[in-house]
Amino acid sequence: MTANNKFYISTPIYYANDVPHIGHTGTTVFADIVGRYYRLKGVEVFSLTGTDEHGEKVAESANKNGKEPQEFVDELSEKWKQYWSELNISNDYFIRTTSEGHIKVVNGLLAKLYEKDAIYKDEYEGIYCVGCEEFKAEKDLVDGKCPEHRPDQIQKRKEENYFFKITDYLPKVKELIKSGELAVEPENKKAEMLARLDENIHDLSISRPNVPWGIPIPWDKTHTTYVWFEALMNYYSAPQIVNKPELWPADVHFLGKGINWFHSVVWPAMLLALELPLPKRVFVHAYYNVEGQKMGKSLGNVISPQNLIDRYGVDGTRYLLAASMPYSNDSDVSFGWFDKKYNADLANGIGNLAARISKLAEGQSIIEGDADFTAVFDKHDEISKLYEDFKLHEVVGKINKLVGSINEYLNANEPWKKTGEERESVVKKAALDLLEIVVLISPIIPDASDKVIRALNGDVVEPVGVLFNKI
Ligand code: MSP
Repeated sequence: MTANNKFYISTPIYYANDVPHIGHTGTTVFADIVGRYYRLKGVEVFSLTGTDEHGEKVAESANKNGKEPQEFVDELSEKWKQYWSELNISNDYFIRTTSEGHIKVVNGLLAKLYEKDAIYKDEYEGIYCVGCEEFKAEKDLVDGKCPEHRPDQIQKRKEENYFFKITDYLPKVKELIKSGELAVEPENKKAEMLARLDENIHDLSISRPNVPWGIPIPWDKTHTTYVWFEALMNYYSAPQIVNKPELWPADVHFLGKGINWFHSVVWPAMLLALELPLPKRVFVHAYYNVEGQKMGKSLGNVISPQNLIDRYGVDGTRYLLAASMPYSNDSDVSFGWFDKKYNADLANGIGNLAARISKLAEGQSIIEGDADFTAVFDKHDEISKLYEDFKLHEVVGKINKLVGSINEYLNANEPWKKTGEERESVVKKAALDLLEIVVLISPIIPDASDKVIRALNGDVVEPVGVLFNKI
């Protein structure tokens, strides 16, 4: 359970310069599943996603597309919203960093940092990767190039910048991560941060002169705020925008390993400087690789959410992402693997079981009134704990075992060979167990679960038919 019965969960805000691939989709679906789980338990959930719309990378893409940045991000943020709505993402708010509300909060926070002397002006000389939107140390580069982006994304810079005195706050951040007061999960991602905190770290450049696309520094409009510095503030600005400032601090930020440092170190340091409460948990998953390779445009192996939805449907997509969740290590996916898993677990597994039981129970009465979700999660506390630990791949594994055991029960008791009360009681037990399973899996496959719950509910059971077509 959560303290004071609220649960604020966020995804990263994604760059509005492209459309999502399964990496972004994974994070968003995982966070959605966890949000839905808490909602079913009666917790007041605030689930946040959005788009990161400033920065040089976005301006560059707009330019390539022959559009003004604002027009370009307006279009792209709509696309992200559409994808999430198609995938049944139940976010409570969608934040855009070009929105007035966000900009207002950012201005306030920047001014406060300046007043507190946490920001100073100095000369910066070094290397910047536009792809990462990040300053790089020599040791981060391979042959002078960023390992993640094209060589033309690397720029040498020498200019006046404003700096955030991050180094003042690092000892405290380190202590908080170490003690677990700021929980960085899983363990291997915490270890990575602690190791990096032992390296030589410089203050953080947070502005650029003469860059038109971004939020001007409030006290010096010739400078634009570094995109990451204001993007991180979205987690704090969203509750202000929806007039629920009491939602802060977030219960958990969900993100992928590439941006762990920004969330586990930079953001907490900013909050310490601002004297604001810190998020309680930072959950960092690993990456999806495709057939053993890093996913990338140049490799031509990018899987889009649309590819998955077209083949497996919305619930199928959500399920396969949860089942292949890269929890502490990267996970390798392929359409071959997805097909097999879909057929085994959904078409032949839960889908077949629901069709089988609802057909056997046709005309019989199983439950009256609403299914008691809280009671089911309380009874299956092991599965609840896995949801709360964000181990969604393990939730899936446990649920499949339950599916298997109902199939075994039916095969052992052969209700189809029985009649009257004897048959009814076997069928009823199987149907009630099925009901528990669909309740337990409903955060993952909400539509299919809903269909089964409705079929089993009411005066008499109606067959659910085919929930997942075999591939
Ligand atoms: N805009 C920043 C985030 C700012 S948050 C204040 C950004 N955006 S992004 O569009 O590049 O999205 C990064 C996120 O995409 C990662 O944190 C992760 O959630 C997801 N992924 C990107 N590639 C991925 C994989 N290959 N596998 C899994 N998730 C990955 O960074």
